[in-house]
Amino acid sequence: MRRTHLFTLLFLAVIGLAFTAPVHTRPAQDLKPASELALLMREMAVFMDSTRAHVVKGQDRLPYPEQFKKMRTATPTEGMVDHAVYDPFADHFLASLDSFYKAKKKNRAQAYNALVQACANCHMQVCPGPLVRIKKMYVPLPEPIPVKGK
Ligand code: HEC
Repeated sequence: MRRTHLFTLLFLAVIGLAFTAPVHTRPAQDLKPASELALLMREMAVFMDSTRAHVVKGQDRLPYPEQFKKMRTATPTEGMVDHAVYDPFADHFLASLDSFYKAKKKNRAQAYNALVQACANCHMQVCPGPLVRIKKMYVPLPEPIPVKGK
């Protein structure tokens, strides 16, 4: 009889625990929302993916993305941007963007790859995480025709 009481108590304790235990753990409370610059970068990555598809299919370029000029002034995540390092890469990227929009159709794939390279150059210095994604943005170029006697 005493034993049965003990078991009943234990049983109730286990049930009680099961009901008070949290059903699911909450995500970390200190996750900060993405910075203005991080959001712009995401938009740039989406732009590159669709521009890549246009280049591969020989389609027209998307409208010039004026808003990317904001990359020079958009607020970054704290500690992510040292302007002495960042600014020259940003200028180079924006210059490559202009070259891509000026390139004749036959040079467009090269100009596009130079743009991807401009993303990668900065990322190698400031934030290597997105490089995996950036490296997939290059378009394969045809092999140059070998010149005889060289
Ligand atoms: C001048 C330097 C620079 C250039 C050029 C640059 N980035 Fe970035 N990128 C950054 C920095 C700095 C961050 C971190 C931003 C932050 O956290 O505020 C970042 C963040 C990112 C992120 C992560 C965003 C997130 O979700 O947190 C992606 C993806 C990205 N860049 C892709 C690209 C692509 C694609 C290009 C080219 C079209 C590019 N970047 C060009 C500096 C650069």
